Amino acid sequence: MGQTGVMLTFEVEDPRAAIFIDPRMSTDPVRWHEVAAELRRDDPVFRVEHELVSPFYALTRHEDVFEVSRHNDIWHNTRHSVLMPDIQQQMLDAMGFTPHTLVHMDGDEHTKHRKVTNDWFKPAAVRKRQEAIASIADTYIEKLRELGGECDFAQDIAVPYTLHVIMDIYGVPPEDEPKMLELTQGMFGAADPEFMGDMSDPFQTVVSTIEGFKEYFGAITEARRSEPTDDIATVIANGEVDGCPMGETAQLWYYIIVATAGHDTTSYGLSGGLNALLAHPDQVALLREDPSLSNQAAEEMIRWTSPVRQFMRYAQSDTQIGGVDIAEGERVLLSYPAANRDPAVFVRPTEFDITRGDSDKLLSFGVGAHYCLGSQFARREIHTILPKLLAAVKTIEPAGEPQFAEANFVGGVKHLPIRYTLA
Ligand code: HEM
Repeated sequence: MGQTGVMLTFEVEDPRAAIFIDPRMSTDPVRWHEVAAELRRDDPVFRVEHELVSPFYALTRHEDVFEVSRHNDIWHNTRHSVLMPDIQQQMLDAMGFTPHTLVHMDGDEHTKHRKVTNDWFKPAAVRKRQEAIASIADTYIEKLRELGGECDFAQDIAVPYTLHVIMDIYGVPPEDEPKMLELTQGMFGAADPEFMGDMSDPFQTVVSTIEGFKEYFGAITEARRSEPTDDIATVIANGEVDGCPMGETAQLWYYIIVATAGHDTTSYGLSGGLNALLAHPDQVALLREDPSLSNQAAEEMIRWTSPVRQFMRYAQSDTQIGGVDIAEGERVLLSYPAANRDPAVFVRPTEFDITRGDSDKLLSFGVGAHYCLGSQFARREIHTILPKLLAAVKTIEPAGEPQFAEANFVGGVKHLPIRYTLA
């Protein structure tokens, strides 16, 4: 491993460690899943040791990921719930940039902060936004028509569509779309060179992204306090914890988690999901025959893509997982893509099947106290645009190889060339 400034260059020789710590492994999902399957079978609580990161155990079985996620008293998220190289973590901590979002909180603090927006994400509340989501989907189907017969579905449709929905949830104007895009990609796509802008340093990208969010949402908070509207920015800007207004920092991290967790995740679910669907023309035909399968198709796309690749949990006392002793303070990595292809739970897990009967075992949104707040939005966004897309085209096929992002936290298909004829 070499190191220049904070720009890290490193090699991880053992592929069983590399799939978790080297973002480049995510660019070859077939290989990634082969290695994960081997681990799940032979070493499901696998100790990863590498000079880049403090040691951890990687959990690849559904049963173990489920068990740890459900026991939030024993397994804490802590402020370091997202895996990154130790040096980057130390620098973020030293500069006071340690993230402090819902996924970095535990216990009462987490419950109280989650409560601020919980009602806003409940199924009935999300249903009320259906018309807005459908209308945004129509805009992007129209864009598909304008593009003629070929496009990069990921960048031309999936990214701006899901971003537009988030902007609508926030109530921010569409002209701010490029700014929000830069900020959300700076946060999550930071490991992928394509999304680094003019910076060659992933750490610096994250720091300047946080500054960017601060500036952007500072102005929104002012506006929503003086003039409340029906959007999540108003709920966050006026949110209270223990009867007092949420602090400025808590608020900033709240804006960041909803903006970032809600965008790239869903867009990768959609682009990677379509990639899988196009590789299975029989499934496309099924969906065309019966558009009511869209909900199930969305579910399978989200299982197949597992856009959130991993989260960490820290043992609060000596415990065990999968028969392995874990000492207090040690940490485990929850591998959602691996758990989602566990043959102990899913029938023919390596087959993409929009009619599968076991989709309720899906772990892409996690489980337990931190279960994804926005899962209803993500599902709705995908199953709303799918039937519209198939109705708009007579034929649709890949027009080149898909490209996967270099990202080991949130990732998936970043370019999806498609060719289509309009209906
Ligand atoms: C396919 C799309 C999505 C995937 C795969 C996904 C996945 C996840 C996962 C794995 C977690 C952590 C769960 C755990 O620790 O048990 C999470 C948390 C979260 N997600 Fe999502 N998510 C998606 C879309 C969204 C959307 C659209 C929003 C908002 C509009 C959102 C907002 C959040 C928030 C706020 C949390 C933190 C919850 C907490 O810690 O209490 N997500 N998500």
